[in-house]
Amino acid sequence: MKLKRTKLGTAAALLAVGALALSACSGSTRGEADPSESAGAGFAADATIGVSLPWLGTQNWKEAETLFTKDLKDAGFNPLVQAADNKVPQQQQQIEAMIEQGAKVIVVGPVDGTQLGTVLETAHDAGVTVIGYDRLIENTAAVDAVVQFGSIRTGELQGQSLLDGLAERKGAGPYNIELFGGGPADPNAPNFFKGAMSVLQPKIDDGTLVVVSGQTDFTQAATQDWDNAKAQSRMDSLLSGFYSDKKIDGVLSPNDGIARAILTASEQAGQELPVVTGLDAENESVVSIWEGKQYSTVAKPTEELVGKTIDLIKDLQSGKGLPTPDETADNGKKDVDVYLLDPVVVTKANAKEVFANDPARLALLK
Ligand code: BGC
Repeated sequence: MKLKRTKLGTAAALLAVGALALSACSGSTRGEADPSESAGAGFAADATIGVSLPWLGTQNWKEAETLFTKDLKDAGFNPLVQAADNKVPQQQQQIEAMIEQGAKVIVVGPVDGTQLGTVLETAHDAGVTVIGYDRLIENTAAVDAVVQFGSIRTGELQGQSLLDGLAERKGAGPYNIELFGGGPADPNAPNFFKGAMSVLQPKIDDGTLVVVSGQTDFTQAATQDWDNAKAQSRMDSLLSGFYSDKKIDGVLSPNDGIARAILTASEQAGQELPVVTGLDAENESVVSIWEGKQYSTVAKPTEELVGKTIDLIKDLQSGKGLPTPDETADNGKKDVDVYLLDPVVVTKANAKEVFANDPARLALLK
């Protein structure tokens, strides 16, 4: 095992050596172990684990807050779970406080994928293992792993579902559509869009799909801060500017909140409801799908994402180290180990099947 050099200096390093030697005898290891070489090191079974979420503005993050708090506690850890209200400085301060409180692992869903380098380097220097949650952490070497549902895959499913919904509900093409993306600071958002466009672009090129506004770039389609109200006002403008004498057949939506905003704007403009995609299987959207309004969503169950993350934390705690990743992602500074889960498209046709083991969502289908 290699000891990481820290700013604490020689005295502290010697203390750390002592602590390691002692704990090696007692079977639980503490100290300044290099996280990348943590196999065999481990940390106390009741260690503090920090979880820094970007905001609580969509159902998935609220579920994550509840589940991390409960499940980390049930696993014997001391959870420190906070959310940053979509503000980068607030998230930086919360992570600093977690380091000061001796967190052994910090799980981060970044507000902005590129803005946490400095604070995460401080975390690494203190021997903390950093795990990206749901979103990739970019532009820093101070990240050890990311757990997520593939974001390109998610986008591909959204794009394909838009095509399927158009064929199912809107007769033969060509179809008039518009495109929405998520918050540009979130590294998932351009990937969702990229995945969707890999399916949609060939159909735009062959004339099956017509983006009437011509707004096909992510920068034009993005929704600042994933703010539903901003999406709704962009949809209002698109409808009044380009569709006063046309039908809109479909809209690519990156998540459920934005999907419902798009449906509201369409309804208010007197349009027959367009085929709209989504993400998260939020309760309100599950109901909307069941009522035949929103066409689809993509389920990425928070229980699975939190469960996988806690499995990794347990592996680190026991000294086993992180398992072999499913793939790596270039974050601009390093290839980050990625642990992947599978997203699933949900429509009215398969909702009962997909939610068979999710009593809360199943109960909404009636
Ligand atoms: C998550 C989505 C969520 C969105 C807005 C994304 O990073 O993957 O589940 O809807 O953020 O909160």
